[in-house]
Amino acid sequence: MPVTPAASPLKILHVASEMAPFIKTGGLADVAGALPAALARMGHDVKVAIPGYRKALAAAGKRGITWAAVPMTIEVGGIDHQVGIGTVVMAPGFTVHLLACNELFDRDGIYGPSPSQDYDDNARRFAVFCKAALALPGALGWAPHVVHGHDWQAGLVPALLERGYGNVLPATRSVFSIHNIAYQGQFWHWDMKLTGLDWSLFNPLFCEHYGKLNLLKTGIVFADRVTTVSRTYAGEIQQGEFAFGLESVIKGTAYKLSGITNGIDTQEWDPAKDPHLAKAFSAEDLSGKAACAAALRKDCGLVNAPGAALVSVVSRLVEQKGIDLIIDAVTPYILAGRMQLIVLGTGDYHLEQRLNQLQARHPGWVYVWYGYNEPLAHQVIGGSDIFLMPSRTEPCGLTQMYAMRYGTLPIVRFTGGLADTVKDVATGNGTGFTFGPVDLGHFSSVLDRALGLYAHFPGEWRDAQVQAMGQDNSWDRVAAEYAGLYRRICIPA
Ligand code: ADP
Ligand code: GLC
Repeated sequence: MPVTPAASPLKILHVASEMAPFIKTGGLADVAGALPAALARMGHDVKVAIPGYRKALAAAGKRGITWAAVPMTIEVGGIDHQVGIGTVVMAPGFTVHLLACNELFDRDGIYGPSPSQDYDDNARRFAVFCKAALALPGALGWAPHVVHGHDWQAGLVPALLERGYGNVLPATRSVFSIHNIAYQGQFWHWDMKLTGLDWSLFNPLFCEHYGKLNLLKTGIVFADRVTTVSRTYAGEIQQGEFAFGLESVIKGTAYKLSGITNGIDTQEWDPAKDPHLAKAFSAEDLSGKAACAAALRKDCGLVNAPGAALVSVVSRLVEQKGIDLIIDAVTPYILAGRMQLIVLGTGDYHLEQRLNQLQARHPGWVYVWYGYNEPLAHQVIGGSDIFLMPSRTEPCGLTQMYAMRYGTLPIVRFTGGLADTVKDVATGNGTGFTFGPVDLGHFSSVLDRALGLYAHFPGEWRDAQVQAMGQDNSWDRVAAEYAGLYRRICIPA
């Protein structure tokens, strides 16, 4: 077991399938960008391995990527892949390595040709990625104390490490984080041949789950420690309702599971210094927020509707996020002149169709922008009054924390990280609004309550805004928790 003196810096390798600012489809990218940065600020030596997707390499090109002279040769299922090592230095002690393999990653998509479609060769793509990530330390002459893998795309990392793959990192310990248990990386059993693991491990105790290769389960089973991204979610995923079939696996590994609630990048998301906003504002001086709202209404072609709250959504448009509840609930409030709605997102076709209809029925009151748009996300969150996140499940959720930091009060379902980060105004010193059961009645009622407070109690509204903006959700505190966890598995008690 590797021993590190309590105060000495740790060497940590993160393995993630996306990372801001190089490539992002959701919150995992935010975490994989911000957590390593925070660990490096604490003095640790941190590297991140991500796949060298076409878009990621283009982004890295603008940040002065350099290439190792010799690519790595990574064998998967009898085929050798040449994997180039691109390096971008982000900050002292914080380096990103883009693992480039043209035949697997030089494509427009990340996980598939569209958000709702996967590539047929994803098992191979991420097996090559995991093996390359574990070969990376050898190529760099750098031995990490801990390898920290994220989500199913990195699920093979703890398993290969534990089984001594390549025999290069015998003393390295592993941490595996579940960002969303709904996505498990399930493949047909023959893909076991691509993992580099012995066939004998294709059984229900290890890699198999109901006849399929399950890479999330594989990561969970083999890791030295498992984390998930909020305290409440760590409890929820031990129950059938939330675990998407993995509850018994989670219960069986509960002894090594902990929930660490994500933080947010408070530099990137700072209303006082946000270059995307029409005007800066802060908890002390909220006047700029009105200018942001006016600019947003104008940009989105919404009518000037005094008294109506500007209500927004920035989200992947999928069932998990409760978008259907929003579509079902808002019409009476729009017709009554109490709210306007802005939606920024991309995802399921049928949800997009229903949002199109909503927009067509309420011109000047509803605006929908499909696609991924970082500046617009800042403008929407900065300019609106209320942010909707009625997720059926939410491992952590970051956008509700961004919203609070911008004095935009979130309405969230009381689940996962939403329950851990938003306090209902009804309980005193609140920062938003929460509701329980996923049905139209409960959602409409919380929306009604929020719109009522907004319209009739400006003093209370402002107090809640100030309370929300004062929350400390910075990564520094969270990174210290991870560092503690890393040390516990590196130092004998
Ligand atoms: P999830 O990871 O489940 O999608 P999170 O709340 O953790 O949910 O993270 C979502 C991240 O993606 C946030 O940074 C949010 O601002 C961003 N995001 C989601 N949709 C869009 C979009 N259409 N345009 C820009 N950013 C988006
Ligand atoms: C996942 C979850 C989200 C979480 C994010 C970052 O995408 O759906 O709730 O905030 O990962 O951990």
